Amino acid sequence: MALIFEKPSTRTRLSFEMGVYELGGHPVVLRPGEMQLSRGESARDTALVLSRQVAAVGMRTGPDSLLAELAEHAQIPVFNMLTALHHPCQALADLMTVREAFGTLTGLRLAYVGDGTNVARSLGILGTLAGMDVAIASPPGYSLEDDLSLPPGAEGSLTLYHDPREAASGAHALYTDVWVSMGDEAGAKAGGEAGGEAGAQERRAALAPYRIDDALLDAAAPDAIALHCLPAHPGEEITAEVLYGPRQRIWDQAENRRHVQKALLEFLLAA
Ligand code: CP
Ligand code: NVA
Repeated sequence: MALIFEKPSTRTRLSFEMGVYELGGHPVVLRPGEMQLSRGESARDTALVLSRQVAAVGMRTGPDSLLAELAEHAQIPVFNMLTALHHPCQALADLMTVREAFGTLTGLRLAYVGDGTNVARSLGILGTLAGMDVAIASPPGYSLEDDLSLPPGAEGSLTLYHDPREAASGAHALYTDVWVSMGDEAGAKAGGEAGGEAGAQERRAALAPYRIDDALLDAAAPDAIALHCLPAHPGEEITAEVLYGPRQRIWDQAENRRHVQKALLEFLLAA
């Protein structure tokens, strides 16, 4: 199994590497600069060669177009380990964690508060596919696109809000992600407006009301759980009280990456 990481990773690398090992496979982790891809070999040629040597390939990169090009030319399964727009393996673990807590997914309300990231987008797509009502609250300028196309068969709903309490109201799971995603360090917004330190300050100020704390959890359903894809920044998007407290399932969620990804690999590779 080739696992190409063009960006840093703790959980995704550990969970895939150990998961492949547990399945009896051999994970080959490839870091930036280790492949001829970094010296101009095309995604097409890389895909053709990978297809002759490994059973499947996962990639973490910035541009979704690079992953799409690799997948277009590969003759083996290609899976997304995080791109600028999507983080589907994370969302699989998130849904597994919610189902462990409530026994079902259909009809549950999943509220995400914060930046309209790759994580939020994948939750919207997979959550609705699983029949959940996904509520996403972001400050103006940081929202997901309001015309996000949901997959065929998605029976849940996706609603975008600006008010975090409105999204959290009645939610079974309350979720957040970092304020500054990989690749966003230099700029305030996806469009690159107001970059630098001023941009970072503007981003923090805009996102501060979207922090998951005990008060926001109190606005959710009585048995609501708190989720976070990690890495966390306690005091920014989530308080330490919630991150290490009794209502979180965040560390189970991190573990579940491995379990659900093993199921994904079986699904992709079983004859
Ligand atoms: N949640 C997640 O994908 O973590 P890593 O960036 O550490 O892989
Ligand atoms: N939105 C974050 C997720 C990290 C797992 C990022 O892209 O950096």
